Amino acid sequence: MPSQPELRIFDTPADLFAAAATEFAALASAAVQSRGRFCVALSGGSTPRNFYQLLASNAFSNLPWDKTYFLFGDERNVPPDHSDSNYRMAKEALLWKVPEPNVFRIHAEHDAETAARDYEQTLRTFFKLQPGKFPRFDLVLLGLGPDGHTASLFPGTSALNENNRLVVANWVENFKTYRITLTLPVLNHAACVIFLACGPDKAAILREVLENQSANLPSQRVRPADGRLIWMVDRAAAQLSTEREGF
Ligand code: 6PG
Repeated sequence: MPSQPELRIFDTPADLFAAAATEFAALASAAVQSRGRFCVALSGGSTPRNFYQLLASNAFSNLPWDKTYFLFGDERNVPPDHSDSNYRMAKEALLWKVPEPNVFRIHAEHDAETAARDYEQTLRTFFKLQPGKFPRFDLVLLGLGPDGHTASLFPGTSALNENNRLVVANWVENFKTYRITLTLPVLNHAACVIFLACGPDKAAILREVLENQSANLPSQRVRPADGRLIWMVDRAAAQLSTEREGF
């Protein structure tokens, strides 16, 4: 049963990231206690960088790092050392401190379809999935693009219609490139999804997401069937939205 989505608004990005890190730590502790490990899908882009750096700081040194496993929600079709690589951003901000065996990057240096199939197999192995089953991440971190995309699920792209595969190569016409992305069934199978959005350039799209359900934006289609959905935003991103708790 989907829980009521939560909207949390913070005065500054720093307040937002501090609250997100506290939530991350609470989820990690609960997951390790009940299932012996904490499985996270990281988001890319620029917003999470400071959040990841905070997680890597001494303030959160007592996280169960040895029992926390980092996977990715999506990746650009570039090598891991490319400036556009989500893995590179996460590695520089956070994953440098994580035991190598606990990190599962998308091998996006290959052609996109090979990378997608490879990562799907990685998920099946890691989560010990039976055929037809979807992985249940303890936490999926997501961002909000200016067009309402999330992960690499862009408006009007074929990945939005994928109901069986876990990972697909998604052609993004606007960028004339492939992206590799988890599919909506995987995102909606998560125990908890947290969107992080901050800054005034997200205000218009956030209002659309929160207040125009007929927009049918990719980020609006993330509604965990049996999990929590939390939008954590700063006041600049929320400036055009009506103050509310749920939505
Ligand atoms: C990516 C992300 C993407 C991102 C949004 C927001 O690979 O870029 O997965 O979905 O979260 O585009 O990006 P910013 O945080 O840079 O605004």
